[in-house]
Amino acid sequence: MQCLLFSILLWLSLAFTCASGEIHYHEFVIQATPVKRLCEMHNIITVNGLFPGPTLEVRNGDTLVIKAINQAIYNVTLHWHGIRQLRTAWADGPEFVTQCPIRPGESYIYRFTIEGQEGTLWWHAHSMWLRATVYGALIIYPEEGSIYPFTMPKREFPILLGQWWNRDPNDVLRQAMITGAAPNISDAFTINGQPGDLYDCSSQETTVIPVVYGETNLFRFINAAMNNELFIAIAGHLMTVVAADAAYTKPFTTPVLMLGPGQTTDVLVTTTQAPGRRYYIAAQAYASAQGVPFDNTTTTAILQYVSAACPTATRTSPSVFPPLFPALPAFNDTQTAAAFSAGIRSPSPVDVPDPVDEHLFFTVGLGLFNCQPNQLCGGPNGTRFTASMNNVSFVLPQTVSILQASYLGAEGVFTDDFPPAPPIQFDYTASNISQDLQQPVPGTKVYKLKYGSVVQVVLQGTNIVAGEEHPMHVHGYQFYVLATGFGNYNPATDPAGFNMVDPPQRNTVGVPVNGWAVIRFVADNPGVWLVHCHLDVHIVWGLAMAFLVENGVGELQAVEPPPIDLPLC
Ligand code: C2O
Repeated sequence: MQCLLFSILLWLSLAFTCASGEIHYHEFVIQATPVKRLCEMHNIITVNGLFPGPTLEVRNGDTLVIKAINQAIYNVTLHWHGIRQLRTAWADGPEFVTQCPIRPGESYIYRFTIEGQEGTLWWHAHSMWLRATVYGALIIYPEEGSIYPFTMPKREFPILLGQWWNRDPNDVLRQAMITGAAPNISDAFTINGQPGDLYDCSSQETTVIPVVYGETNLFRFINAAMNNELFIAIAGHLMTVVAADAAYTKPFTTPVLMLGPGQTTDVLVTTTQAPGRRYYIAAQAYASAQGVPFDNTTTTAILQYVSAACPTATRTSPSVFPPLFPALPAFNDTQTAAAFSAGIRSPSPVDVPDPVDEHLFFTVGLGLFNCQPNQLCGGPNGTRFTASMNNVSFVLPQTVSILQASYLGAEGVFTDDFPPAPPIQFDYTASNISQDLQQPVPGTKVYKLKYGSVVQVVLQGTNIVAGEEHPMHVHGYQFYVLATGFGNYNPATDPAGFNMVDPPQRNTVGVPVNGWAVIRFVADNPGVWLVHCHLDVHIVWGLAMAFLVENGVGELQAVEPPPIDLPLC
């Protein structure tokens, strides 16, 4: 009897230690919602009527179960940007890559566990341009009983940077796809959904962040903008970077941040300024492409010092002073952007995976298609804009997702011959690249990786049409950024400069304008993983590819079976 009791107790304690995390259930209703911005009412697509959408707050080790109910008129999918999705590729979300879209009136349950990740991530729609309004923060706190590796902040604020069009973003996209021209530039940038004081009809709703003198607070910046990298600064305050892309970093202090779409940066800010005053948090574009039109407006929020007694009474204490404005770098200040990104390091020495099994070299850049009969050709000199990696302009399947096709062994959906190197080598960053090299080949190609292989990718920007910094995102992985540089990557000399000591771990790396970045990871997550530029204008032009990571040995190294409610095309 005693023995039985003992074994029951043992079993119970085991059951509890294995399932240590909490399970969070949410319902995300995707729906049209009226909102007023820049003097006009618009019907935008939101989650649960909120803009930005709901903030998810979990701990490392927890499980999220989110039922997405599509009550909008568009197909939709949701993506949990930066979540590794170990063995749960079905919950990753990019449409036609890991699932077919959720049709209007249908629903799908995303279910995944957070394993070994802490910090700031976010979620967004991954279908057409819906993510312009369908996005929110995903905050991962340390496991119960563990703490931040930095001063415990007094307060925490998620700061979502967004981008706003007065037109329906999907119409902006559709027009560009019909005309072949670049899509219209946006009408505003936003902070937590609000453009701020520098735009028409907006100052009543400017985001106000109440702070109390003498505190250290944590700001979790997320660049959720569609098509622009952004500089960010806070008047009168320095920021100490402590994490990026849900990985802690070696703290460093800076007056300005630069985030590409998809990237996050957590900073500590100590409130040392005069109580009663107000300070702008301001963001504007880092526009690295020369001669390309961009939204040159500035979004602002207000850091307002309030008394500790009633920290929420922000609007009842109007200040006589206008808020102070921070210094922001020039739009084309590549040096500041590069210096900021290079400052991000892992907090302590890391075991960089080595030796490399797969040496890959991918060009990333734009292109131009010659005009075909019956096409509109609004691009430069009567062409259509396109983009590619290794000269393959990525095309999404239309009848089944790549993951489903690979799981079921369906033929004719994709091929696995994505080239490990560009088909033609040329001077990628030259100022006059021959016309012949500017026309990629459309295709749905993946690159196969063996489970557990060590993969290194040199991402080489090209100067075709216009060189630009491309924020390259890899789904399902956190990779090490070993080096970045300008010009053409040199395999003979550049490896000597790799950071094998404390390279940062990221899910999105800015490939410098007319430059390169080297990333490395272990292919330990089976599934189909999209790799793409997070400037959405470039995705639709084809600046993407996918890795197909094969299953390893046994159940724990294999993709789980698909959920029963996986949407069908
Ligand atoms: Cu932020 Cu493909 O995603």
